[in-house]
Amino acid sequence: MTSTVEPASHLKGTLKLPADKSISHRAAMFAALHEGVSTIRNFSDAADPHSTLACLRQLGVSIQEEGDTIIVDGVGRNGFHTPDQPLDCGNSGTTMRLLSGIVGGAGISCTLTGDDSLSARTMKRIIDPLKEMGIKIEARDNDFAPLHIHRDGPVQALHFPLPIASAQLKSCVLLAGLFGEEETEVIETKISRDHTERLLQLPIEKVRGKKKIRSSKQADIPEQSYTVPGDFSAAAFWLVAGSIHPNSSIQLPSVGMNPTRTGALDILRKMEAQIQVENKRMEGFEPVADLRITSSSLKPVDMTAKIIPNCIDEIPIILVAMLFADGISTVRGAKELRHKETDRLKAMADILRASGADFEEHVDGFTIHGNPDFIPKSAQFKSCHDHRIAMSAAILALKAKEESHIKDADCTAISYPSFWNDLSLLTN
Ligand code: S3P
Repeated sequence: MTSTVEPASHLKGTLKLPADKSISHRAAMFAALHEGVSTIRNFSDAADPHSTLACLRQLGVSIQEEGDTIIVDGVGRNGFHTPDQPLDCGNSGTTMRLLSGIVGGAGISCTLTGDDSLSARTMKRIIDPLKEMGIKIEARDNDFAPLHIHRDGPVQALHFPLPIASAQLKSCVLLAGLFGEEETEVIETKISRDHTERLLQLPIEKVRGKKKIRSSKQADIPEQSYTVPGDFSAAAFWLVAGSIHPNSSIQLPSVGMNPTRTGALDILRKMEAQIQVENKRMEGFEPVADLRITSSSLKPVDMTAKIIPNCIDEIPIILVAMLFADGISTVRGAKELRHKETDRLKAMADILRASGADFEEHVDGFTIHGNPDFIPKSAQFKSCHDHRIAMSAAILALKAKEESHIKDADCTAISYPSFWNDLSLLTN
């Protein structure tokens, strides 16, 4: 499907954001690992978390869906069945990387597959530590899905300083560690999203700038009954849209405010975006707040490697904000974006080029020559079948003089099925 985006005269209204994708995946997986029933409210209706549900069902977990609530009858560490078909992880890196840790740890022999995009993404980062833990994985070219996983001996504990700031890698190792007699320890220096350690209530120690997280057979797996917050990564599109548009006022109730996720808020505030954070509270294990954004005059900003893990999925839309700032902004240390659903640095360079923006692409980021009066050219933007690229292009297109087209726009369903409806709600 190709979506048409008209220039907007205003952006006004209140949106119910999709439920957090990262938390939804984990809630379902950890509820399956818990022995007993968990009731998860506001479970994501996006395609990726539903890939996780389908895989868990194939592993013998009973999951009922009642509207946006799911009821998971947890089987515990030892209750998974060997599936008779490969587990199809669809487009979802989180499903493949986290489930590999669980099935490998549980000693379930199975195959994990994915779509073309997922099959082109490196899995070596999880294969190497899982092998050290005694889990055998055969992969295409030793790197890519399909992954054939099995285990003969016991799970070996691992002492693992994270070589890259990746929450999927961290979670994969900790989840396999849940099946070991001895403690596995993951050490982080750059802090990535911490939903796994929060939702599993794993022991954590912070020593001299390092965070140590431990897991073993002894860790009790808590019930996962809570309401999943709105997805901050979805909110980020509207935070940028509202700040670059001259006639906007957008309310976003119940947004997840986990500090390991809200790097884009810190950056936008540095850019002097007019964002109000109200009614801060806890829901389950996660902080939540209501956000409000109005038209802003943005200042340029420099982003370095340290903040990247806390806004890894928001870089494409932050680049759009930078186009309208009053001066030169930079993003460096963001090479990881080349390993996402598509090479997001390249995909964004193509979009910025098509819009007539003034910028330079680097191996690990961008220099953006911002201009508050920039009017993007109307164009046919390529999403590369990547949800976050499609949505970033759509927000940019709102500022063009004439209508633009976003190709393969249905990929937004991966994380944000109601994106196009929400966009017309704000513009009508
Ligand atoms: C995710 C972690 C991030 C992020 C992805 C979701 C997660 O990936 O980009 O969208 O839920 O753990 P990496 O861990 O590869 O950085």
